[in-house]
Amino acid sequence: MPIPREKFKILYSRERIAAEVKRLGQEITRDYQQRDILLVGVLKGSFLFIADLIREIESPTMIDFVRLASYGSQTQSSGIIEFRKELEMPIRDRDVIIVEDIVDSGYTLECLYNKLLLQEPRSLKICSLIDKRGRREVEIEADYVGMTMDEGFIIGYGLDYDEHYRNLPDIYTVEDF
Ligand code: IMP
Ligand code: MG
Repeated sequence: MPIPREKFKILYSRERIAAEVKRLGQEITRDYQQRDILLVGVLKGSFLFIADLIREIESPTMIDFVRLASYGSQTQSSGIIEFRKELEMPIRDRDVIIVEDIVDSGYTLECLYNKLLLQEPRSLKICSLIDKRGRREVEIEADYVGMTMDEGFIIGYGLDYDEHYRNLPDIYTVEDF
């Protein structure tokens, strides 16, 4: 069921998002110098973020995707993570950055991080557009963070509610959630 638009309140404008993505790209470019990077996007939520981020990175960069889904309600993760699509590229001895839309409880990232670590990348970092600090249940921190928020449910710029609203160019909070 779509949510009535009156309940949307703008949280991050497209201009703010673009500025933070640019900063993240610059930080990554600086940290990796001219080393080859492999970005691993977590589908579906990160598809717009990774598309913008990769264009702000000036190091040689390749891209691959995994698709994860966590069971639970539409707004809360259960901690049970299902892999629906695996990596296609080998990551052994490569400099890998996981690209996520948002870290909430942290279950999804922890699960992915530990799984990729077993494949022995040269380095493994995490870049998340948003860090929802107030809701963390496992100890995991992103190395690169765009924006930090405390709690609340957000949509837009790749983030969905029941698969809706991923196409909105700005990010909104949804009231009464
Ligand atoms: P976690 O496992 O609880 O950290 O949840 C991470 C995943 O839940 C993210 O990759 C998102 O797909 C989804 N998610 C968490 N918070 C939000 C939100 O506020 N809006 C939309 N999706 C969210
Ligand atoms: Mg989602």
